[in-house]
Amino acid sequence: PHLSMHALDGLVFEDVPLNAIADAVGTPTWVMGAGTLRARYRRLAGALRDAGLAPSIHFAVKANDHLAVLRVLAAEGAGADVVSGGELRRARAAGIPAAGIVFSGVGKSRDELHLAVTEGIAHIAVESAEELDVVSDVAVAAGRTARITLRVNPDVDAGTHEKITTGLSTNKFGIAYARAADLYARAAALPGLHPLGFSVHIGSQIVAMGPYRAAFARVADLVRAVRARGLSVGLVDCGGGLGIRYRDEVEGAPMALAGAIRAELGDLDVRLAIEPGRWLAGPAGVLLSRVILRKAGQDGLPPFLILDAAMNDLARPSLYDSWHGILPLSARDAVQPVESVNVVGPVCESADSFATGRMLPRMGDGAAVALLDTGAYGMVMSSTYNGRPLAAQVLVDGGRWSVIRARQPVESLWAADRVPDWLAPQPV
Ligand code: LLP
Repeated sequence: PHLSMHALDGLVFEDVPLNAIADAVGTPTWVMGAGTLRARYRRLAGALRDAGLAPSIHFAVKANDHLAVLRVLAAEGAGADVVSGGELRRARAAGIPAAGIVFSGVGKSRDELHLAVTEGIAHIAVESAEELDVVSDVAVAAGRTARITLRVNPDVDAGTHEKITTGLSTNKFGIAYARAADLYARAAALPGLHPLGFSVHIGSQIVAMGPYRAAFARVADLVRAVRARGLSVGLVDCGGGLGIRYRDEVEGAPMALAGAIRAELGDLDVRLAIEPGRWLAGPAGVLLSRVILRKAGQDGLPPFLILDAAMNDLARPSLYDSWHGILPLSARDAVQPVESVNVVGPVCESADSFATGRMLPRMGDGAAVALLDTGAYGMVMSSTYNGRPLAAQVLVDGGRWSVIRARQPVESLWAADRVPDWLAPQPV
């Protein structure tokens, strides 16, 4: 909806022709749409409101951690879901109040917990019996009370890619369902802890509501069981995971998620929270790249379009075999006859491939393309493998655009290297 093809301007994102950005900033370049982010946030919040729910919404910072992105969402009312001290400090640096921050993650260091406790964040999701003792310890040492939830592993299959499934008992995440009620009682008895309720997150890129309903139903049973013991439960954090349409999936609908939450948790009389990442940010970003070279395939096989973006920039296809749409930026390229091509990057690995046998309009050297739906788990997962600096980042906002992070200067790749002085001096 926020991308359109124009006869003169080519591919336009919100109101900005992407060619103008590719020409001015070079490629590869990540582009985020502020208007798109706002529109998606409002759709999600609106669907929940229409269902009579008013959960606090904590954007999963891991999906896209740029300060400008966090700022756009914070202005809409979002808090943050963080998984490290680094993300916590980043969220604070973006101006998100501590009271809007939740902290989950399977291994939090004492330093990170100390930071969370002294900042006074909304809650820490505790993921094991062992961690419960550490949080109590850290809070007591700091002279504070830590607000916590217990993250339950509901042993529900989210029906998504195995590498982004988290709610199975074989996964490392969360507290075994059968132990959760006892542990909640223990949390209530330990010093320095204020248990608020439960968290659950079963995975990412979930497009069917069945697994959500099953997980929420188990949490609801747990809340009732714990209350029956005379303990108070005031909060359920429903996690993230809502999926988007990359190819032909049906996008996870906010209305359907709202319905699932209301059906299973609606009459529990608890405050609710959610932690969406991908659904908000994914479709709000594209990665611009150019064809370095069109290389003929062997023996009549499809040609290779070798892009200047690679797996070090966008890791998802090499990690999860994920599919991302690819569109030419120029209107002239867009109307060429389609052909089957292999779209790859220049990194020295066969895994550095974006698409195999993809039907695309015929493009040659220098043609610019957009890789779609890369606003979540894109830039944040980049590395500098193969001596490739981190790509530039741009924010469009309606008709305006601005570079929000310059391309990394190549010298900075080795600027922090220190060569021990017993090694031979540098040859000149
Ligand atoms: N809450 C918790 C506790 C999480 O672990 C995650 C994501 C989220 C919220 C946000 O989930 P979302 O709404 O974005 O699905 N790199 C992978 C995705 C990893 C997701 C990890 N946890 C990918 O590119 O598909």
